[in-house]
Amino acid sequence: MKYQIRPLEEKDIGAIVAGEEAIFGVSLGFDLIYADFKLNPFAHYLVLEIDQQVGGYIGLWIHDDKAEIINFYVDKAYQHQGFGTMLLDFACQLCELSGVSMLSLEVRENNNAALALYEKFNFVFSHKRHQYYQDLSDALVLIKKFEEAK
Ligand SMILES: CC(C)(COP(=O)(O)OP(=O)(O)OC[C@H]1O[C@@H](n2cnc3c(N)ncnc32)[C@H](O)[C@@H]1OP(=O)(O)O)[C@@H](O)C(=O)NCCC(=O)NCCS
Repeated sequence: MKYQIRPLEEKDIGAIVAGEEAIFGVSLGFDLIYADFKLNPFAHYLVLEIDQQVGGYIGLWIHDDKAEIINFYVDKAYQHQGFGTMLLDFACQLCELSGVSMLSLEVRENNNAALALYEKFNFVFSHKRHQYYQDLSDALVLIKKFEEAK
């Protein structure tokens, strides 16, 4: 198996939309991702490529010293093999290099796999967003603070 983490290319967007639909039942949508990719200088989409196919991605917005994870998944076939850790680690390194002091994200409170991973990366609970998801369930907002570079 050959894999790498690399920046998003336009040709990946279709696979990402299909992957999000398979995992979450809903995608951010081609248009949003395409517009972000083309027009948003704060958007960073990191693709996990496995054997020349998209196997997942993490998308984040970095603005000044704040960053937010927009979406993040690993295809079911590749979960539990350390790829989620690699993607999140890459995103955190990018934040550190960019001088980010705080990274935030939303997660469903019953998403034990993601919660366990975020805990390992020292994310902590910040607050709840009520009826955040399409099915009106709540989101937990987690944050991770970075020490200032010396
Ligand atoms: C969350 C997700 C990205 C993790 O990706 P992954 O490649 O499976 O993660 P890793 O193999 O690197 O596992 C890292 C840690 O996550 C936790 N984890 C992963 N799957 C888990 C599961 N099914 N149950 C409990 N913990 C789990 C464990 O702590 C694991 O560490 P360990 O292997 O030392 O026990 C993946 O499960 C996924 O895509 N889920 C669906 C989409 C999603 O929930 N995205 C996040 C939205 S906020």
